[in-house]
Amino acid sequence: MVDFNGIVVELGKWIDERRLHHSIGVSRCAVDLAKHYGVDEDKAKLAGLVHDCAKCLSLEKTLELGRNYGFEADEISLRNKALLHAPIGAYLARDLFEIKDPEILEAIACHTTGKEDMDLLDKIIFVADYTEEDRNYPGVEEIRRLAFIDLNESVIRALELSIKNVLERGKLLHPMTIEARNFLIMETREEEMKHSVKSLKKQGGRHA
Ligand SMILES: [Fe+2]
Ligand SMILES: [Fe+2]
Repeated sequence: MVDFNGIVVELGKWIDERRLHHSIGVSRCAVDLAKHYGVDEDKAKLAGLVHDCAKCLSLEKTLELGRNYGFEADEISLRNKALLHAPIGAYLARDLFEIKDPEILEAIACHTTGKEDMDLLDKIIFVADYTEEDRNYPGVEEIRRLAFIDLNESVIRALELSIKNVLERGKLLHPMTIEARNFLIMETREEEMKHSVKSLKKQGGRHA
């Protein structure tokens, strides 16, 4: 049995009150989605609760932890603490809360960028992070609405919003975000894609 109250107390030593509030919101939202999609609710609750455990650390501390864990950050993540807190958070959550379940750790690690071939728990945490009750940004209602109707579409919309934000702010775009979106688009719109590939091939001769 997971001691969720104990985890909240420990988590409060690592993140500020606002972030703790957000984390509890993500956890709640993740449980609702887990119920809906038949995923283990305790796993979703735990992953949601601790997903941002490294979010409030300084860049120096985050990098130091990364070195200690032997985590080799790529060039893009090294230049963006907002990206680093996810994979480093997975290591930290493993050690702080003795989480051994690789699915929970992976959902924490990819909650900011997404990744190719996300599993259900990855998608739930990703979407819960975007749609917890305090989230309020243009487009949130649609992502929230889709979350319970078509989880893949909801993830795609959240990824697209994230990509737009990154572009608007002139920041570096992480390839995992593109891979996550491409994978989901190919997976969910396979028939449509096959059709356009076929018609492109047909046209190929004419344009040669
Ligand atoms: Fe985060
Ligand atoms: Fe978060």
